[in-house]
Amino acid sequence: MCGIVGYVGQREAADVLLDGLSRLEYRGYDSAGIAVFENEIIKVAKSKGRLADLQAKMQKEGKPSGHAGIGHTRWATHGEPSDRNSHPHGGGNVTLVHNGIIENYKKLKEFLLSKGRKFESDTDTEVIAQLLDYYYEEHHGNPVEAIVKTLKELEGSYALGIVFADFPDRVFAMRKESPLIVGIGENECFIASDMTAILKYTKNYYLLEPGEIAVLSRQGAKVYNLHYQKIEKELKTADWDVSAAEKGGYEHYMLKEIHEQPESIKKTITPRIENGLPNLEECGITPEKLLEFNKIHIVACGTAMHAGMVGKYVIEKLAKISVNVDIASEFRYREPLVGEGDLVIVISQSGETADSLAALRLSKELGAKTLAIVNAKGSSIAREADMLIYTHAGPEIAVASTKAYMVQIAVMYLFAFELALANKKIDETECRRLTALLQGTPDKISEILEHKEMTQLIASELITADSLLYIGRGLDYALSMEGSLKLKEISYIHSESYAAGELKHGTISLITENMPVIAVATQQNLFDKTISNIKEVKARGARVVLVSRESYQPEKDVADFKFGLPDYEDLLMPMLAVVPLQLIAYYTAVLKGTDVDKPRNLAKSVTVE
Ligand code: AGP
Repeated sequence: MCGIVGYVGQREAADVLLDGLSRLEYRGYDSAGIAVFENEIIKVAKSKGRLADLQAKMQKEGKPSGHAGIGHTRWATHGEPSDRNSHPHGGGNVTLVHNGIIENYKKLKEFLLSKGRKFESDTDTEVIAQLLDYYYEEHHGNPVEAIVKTLKELEGSYALGIVFADFPDRVFAMRKESPLIVGIGENECFIASDMTAILKYTKNYYLLEPGEIAVLSRQGAKVYNLHYQKIEKELKTADWDVSAAEKGGYEHYMLKEIHEQPESIKKTITPRIENGLPNLEECGITPEKLLEFNKIHIVACGTAMHAGMVGKYVIEKLAKISVNVDIASEFRYREPLVGEGDLVIVISQSGETADSLAALRLSKELGAKTLAIVNAKGSSIAREADMLIYTHAGPEIAVASTKAYMVQIAVMYLFAFELALANKKIDETECRRLTALLQGTPDKISEILEHKEMTQLIASELITADSLLYIGRGLDYALSMEGSLKLKEISYIHSESYAAGELKHGTISLITENMPVIAVATQQNLFDKTISNIKEVKARGARVVLVSRESYQPEKDVADFKFGLPDYEDLLMPMLAVVPLQLIAYYTAVLKGTDVDKPRNLAKSVTVE
C-alpha cells in the first residue's frame, strides 16, 4: 500500500526518487509524485496514473532539479485517484508523503478547519501535513518537536517522508505501523518503504522501529524516539544484490520469479536440513517444543492462506494433528477459540499485511505461541512472532505471488516432517526419505519449466472465456485455490476453485461450453474419482484442461488439453503442479494484454484492513 522514497546527497534527487519509485510501484500505482528542493524552494510534480504518466508530465513541464526530496507511489485509500489527491501534500512549511491510513482524520480535519486551515485534497494525508505545520508554528520552527507532537495525535498506521521548507538540506521520516528503512550511503542518505528501492546505491540501512523519527542529511542520519531522545541504531546490511530486484532479461517480474523457484526452494530448505533431517532449531523450534502444542491454527491472507491449506493437508496426514486454516480478516473478528497450548502459524510474504499482523497480536494476547513464516526480513510480523522461519525467496516484485508461495509450502513440508517425527507418527527413515524428496523438488520444477509450451497453448484457449472453474480433491483442491486466484488476479477472468466432489451440489449448473474447467489430478488414490467428476462436466459441454501426471493416461476425450507432470511422491505433487497453474495464469494475462506485474486495483503489500 503506497511506496515512499526520500533522498539527500550529491546526486540529482529527482532521478534517485524516480528510480526508487519504479521499484516500489508494485506497492501501489494509482498516482505518483515527487517533491524536490530546487534552489532551496520545494518544487512538487505529481500526476494521476502510473509513474510513466508522471515522467511524461515532467518531460513537458520540467523536472525539479536539486539534491534533496521525497517521492511517493499511491494505492488510493482516502480520495479517488486524481492529480489533486496524489502525494506529496503540503501545508505551509511542510510537504510530505504518507503510506498508511489515519483513522481519526475527520476529527483532526474539523479541528484544523476551525483554526482557519484550508484543504486542497480529500486525503487523510493532507490532514497530517496541515497538523504538522500547525505544530511547527506552535513549536517555533523545531521540526522534530512538531513531528513528536503531531504523531501523538494520529491514530492509524503510517510511515511518513517529510520535508520542511526551512530545512532544504534535510529529509525527515517516521514510522508507526507501516514499514520504513533509512539507507546510509557515502555522503548521502535515503528512506524507502523497502530495500529494493535503494539497493542500487547502498546495502547499509537502519530499520526504523514504530515511533522512531529520522533526520537525514548528507552527513548521515540521526534517529530519535518519541521523547526526543537520540537513539543508537544498529547498521544492517542487506544480503540481496541489485539483480535480485531487476527483471534480468525476462519480460515480466512474474515470469522471472516463476523461474527462480528452484533456487528459492534450495536457499530456504538447505540451511534447515542437517544429516538428512529437518532442523528448525535456529528458528526457535525444537522437537520438544513441538510436543507442547495441542492445536495448530494457520492464519494468513490470499496466496499465503493457500499455502496454509497445503500445510493443513500435509500436517494432518503426517503428524495426525488437527489444523484450522483461517483467513486473517475473519479470524481477528470472530472471537477465535485460541489459547494457551495452541500454536498459531502466521504466513506472510511481506510480513506487513495488516490483518495477518492483527491476527498474530490477537493470538499472543489469547495466550497462544506464534510462529511466523515470512519472506521480508525485519518486517513487523517477523519481529513480533515468538518463533520465526524466514523464507529465502529474495524480493518478490510481481503483485501475483509465485516464488513466495512455493517457499511457504516448502517450509510447511519441513515443519510437518519435523512435527511428525517428534510425535512419532513417522520414523527417522521415513523422515529422511521425505526430506530427500523435498530436496529433489527443485530439479523436478526445473524440468517442468523446460517444457512449458503446453501452458501457452492452454492460455490461448482460455482467453475467450468469461469464467472458469478449477477443481481438485485433497491436496489438488488446496492447490486449485491458488491456481484460480492466480488466474483471476492477473487476467481478470472470473474463476472459482471447487472441491471436485462438491460440484454436483449446486455449482455444476453453471457448466456450459463457455465455462472451461481446469482439473488438477495428481493424487493417485483420488485420480479415478476426479476423472469421474471431469466426465460429469465434460458431458455438460465444458472444455477441460487436465493437470496430472504424464504417466496417467485417462480414456480418450476425457480432457481437451493435458499438462503432464513428472511422477513424484503424491504428498509433494503440489510443488510441481502449481508451476503449470502459474504459467497458465501468466500466459493468459499476457495474451489478454493486462498489466501482468501490476494488475488493476491491487497492491503488493496490504497494510490496511
Ligand atoms: C497473491 O498473488 C496476492 N498478491 C495476495 O493474495 C497476497 O498473497 C496476500 O495479500 C498476502 O500477502 P502477504 O503474503 O504479504 O501477507
